[in-house]
Amino acid sequence: MTQEPIAAQLSPYQVDVKKGETYKWCRCGRSKNQPFCDESHEGTGITPLEFVAAADETIILCGCKETGDAPYCDGTHNIL
Ligand code: FES
Ligand code: FES
Repeated sequence: MTQEPIAAQLSPYQVDVKKGETYKWCRCGRSKNQPFCDESHEGTGITPLEFVAAADETIILCGCKETGDAPYCDGTHNIL
């Protein structure tokens, strides 16, 4: 049975990514290596969201896990 995501924190994470590298955003909220997956989702039925960075840049990833634009923060945390 799939469990619900939990908020890692009620604010986003600012991270530097490298063009062409693959990242796994933690969708379940249980990782100890936020905002990235550390496999703690095992048994929850939730899987991480993989994405490839389009450029060397700083991006804002969702920490509350309620965003409508995963893996990016879309401001939803402001109304939780
Ligand atoms: Fe959260 Fe993997 S630890 S999706
Ligand atoms: Fe989740 Fe902003 S931290 S929407």
